[in-house]
Amino acid sequence: MRLKDKVAIVTGAAQGIGREYSLRFAQEGAAVGVVDLRYEQTKMVEQEIIERGGRAAALRVDVTSEEQLNAMAKQVFDRFGRIDVLVNNAAIYYDLELGNSSIEYGRKVMDVNVFGVMLASWAVFPYMKRQRSGSIINISSIAAFPGAVQSVMLGHMPEIEKPTADYYGISKAAVIHLTQSMALSFGRYNIRVNAIAPGVTMSEATKKVVPEPFVQALTSGSALGRALEPAQLTGTALYLASDDSAMMTGQVLVVDSGRKI
Ligand SMILES: NC(=O)c1ccc[n+]([C@@H]2O[C@H](COP(=O)([O-])OP(=O)(O)OC[C@H]3O[C@@H](n4cnc5c(N)ncnc54)[C@H](O)[C@@H]3O)[C@@H](O)[C@H]2O)c1
Repeated sequence: MRLKDKVAIVTGAAQGIGREYSLRFAQEGAAVGVVDLRYEQTKMVEQEIIERGGRAAALRVDVTSEEQLNAMAKQVFDRFGRIDVLVNNAAIYYDLELGNSSIEYGRKVMDVNVFGVMLASWAVFPYMKRQRSGSIINISSIAAFPGAVQSVMLGHMPEIEKPTADYYGISKAAVIHLTQSMALSFGRYNIRVNAIAPGVTMSEATKKVVPEPFVQALTSGSALGRALEPAQLTGTALYLASDDSAMMTGQVLVVDSGRKI
């Protein structure tokens, strides 16, 4: 078991890829804080982990609330005794309004996808600092690289109102900057910060949000020629969470079937 005796928190863990990270981490021996706005679903993930003999705690948290995040970190620490891993996976994706280019909406996306990552990391920082160890894994996306995604999407859009209103892509690019700047500032406490940038992954969210022609266009041009399944991202997260990556920080691992080569 590669995470034996470790304690992990996964945000956005109610469904999709975050659920898979939670199940895999628990299978590898970690106690998991299963965190999301969708409380009923987090309870189901908690239940699934417990039924398989693992340890988990479902927590309803809005990652835009500093107060709720601080309470979450305290609850996980009080319950399990330490905090080793944080996966900043929560994001506006399932509920993404692709056609909404208003600046108010852009602020909302940034609030969750960028400041949520920052606030959750601040919330666990005091615990990791005391332990002199920790691994923070931020979930970016290949949408962070305009040449990988935006150029393909543009080919399918005859009319464009505001070409730069790719709030999701902008937020995921900011996650990469955050990863690198946090890696620099947290390194002295032996806290590592890395990112995963997944390519098109067939979660419920992708099926709901991304029109089929986009999925086709984005995957057919990749080296492996197909989209990922959510569980296929868990190995990379496990590697970054475990001591196998002990000297790796500030890195972005692109897991995208070879789209962004
Ligand atoms: N599926 C893909 O193709 C893909 C590709 C690249 C990156 N990603 C990223 O991977 C992550 C998971 O993606 P997914 O496909 O499972 O999508 P998803 O939308 O199902 O998962 C995101 C989760 O975050 C939660 N969330 C949203 N706002 C929140 C808030 N304010 N507080 C707490 N929780 C909140 C949602 O309830 C949801 O459960 C996201 O960060 C997404 O941007 C996905």
